[in-house]
Amino acid sequence: MAPVRNARYIFTEVPEEYPEPGRHFRYDDSQIVDLESVSLDGGILVKTLVLSLDPYMRGRMRPPSKESYTNPFRIGESLSGYGVGVILRSEHEAYALGDHVTYVDIPHQEYFVVKPNPFLRKIPSDAGVPWSLFIGVLGMPGQTAYASWKEYAKPQKGQTVFVSTAAGAVGSFVVQLAKLDGMKVIASSGSDEKAAFTKECGADVSFNYKTTSTEEILQKEGPIDVYYDNVGGETLDLAFKYAAKNARFIECGMISIYNKPDKSYPFKHLMEIIGKQISVNGFLVFDLVPKWGKQFYEEMPRLVKEGKIKFQEDRSYGLDQIGEAFVAVQKGTNNGKKVVVVAED
Ligand SMILES: NC(=O)c1ccc[n+]([C@@H]2O[C@H](COP(=O)([O-])OP(=O)(O)OC[C@H]3O[C@@H](n4cnc5c(N)ncnc54)[C@H](OP(=O)(O)O)[C@@H]3O)[C@@H](O)[C@H]2O)c1
Repeated sequence: MAPVRNARYIFTEVPEEYPEPGRHFRYDDSQIVDLESVSLDGGILVKTLVLSLDPYMRGRMRPPSKESYTNPFRIGESLSGYGVGVILRSEHEAYALGDHVTYVDIPHQEYFVVKPNPFLRKIPSDAGVPWSLFIGVLGMPGQTAYASWKEYAKPQKGQTVFVSTAAGAVGSFVVQLAKLDGMKVIASSGSDEKAAFTKECGADVSFNYKTTSTEEILQKEGPIDVYYDNVGGETLDLAFKYAAKNARFIECGMISIYNKPDKSYPFKHLMEIIGKQISVNGFLVFDLVPKWGKQFYEEMPRLVKEGKIKFQEDRSYGLDQIGEAFVAVQKGTNNGKKVVVVAED
């Protein structure tokens, strides 16, 4: 068979603020691959099916000299992240032609070779749900919500939880976990459509923070016993102000500052942590998964299959859409878990 195109989406320049497709990253279709003869060296050849665009990827768009908990993207190389692919060739006995795999570091290109490793997971062939869910509600975002909620929320029936970015992949799952635990849920999101979805997920108070004052809502509906923080900044500051005694803060993300050059916010209400004895719990999902992953996969696939856990998926089609899709997540114009479908099965 003649070599085929192996298009990629490459990183080209470190952004100061929001990345711009065409400038900081771009589509590149100059590479080819011979699918029959490319060396596998004991690994597998995978065709990329669907890629996940996640907020944390913004942190990888940094100079390599800057330390962080993730690897930086390299100028001139493909972006990479969570995704699902199908095996075209295998030189490893645990993987066969046609198996579907999900992996934390799929290069954003049409085909790639990878060696078996602990982060490369086979998806059961009888999963009975679209493959893309394994990078969404049944993948990293779902695990994030589940593991952090189980680890830190200490839910009590009748207590109040405030969830920011509540219509998103992580947030909408948290809303539903909190309702299963009998809590009152205040859900903040960035559009009326998103607020309606959080209501469908069971939130007691759903509001669009762009048109309704978060402070007024928290003053009226608080104090809050648990704050599930996806945004940081001003919303987090207000959550300190309207927290109850012994509140638990689950620090999942701070997307409101990811694209600011100095990545900071001038807090006014930090002192509340002491007087109210607030526990502030930052976490990284991959450190919680060894503890909660097994339970997650025992409970959640069935509930998702039965439609008992709601989720939204926002699909773009074509590898060349990666840039726009990524910016949508950073700016909040996505509606649910953002994925790019690269190829059909
Ligand atoms: N700690 C961990 O291990 C871990 C793992 C996974 C995810 N996370 C974090 O969880 C959060 C949610 O991730 P996700 O995958 O579920 O994403 P998502 O909610 O599906 O998409 C991102 C959302 O962030 C909101 N947003 C964007 N810019 C914002 C801004 N300037 N201010 C306030 N909100 C903004 C938008 O929602 P609105 O329109 O509602 O504003 C946007 O839709 C992120 O902060 C992410 O970094 C952390």
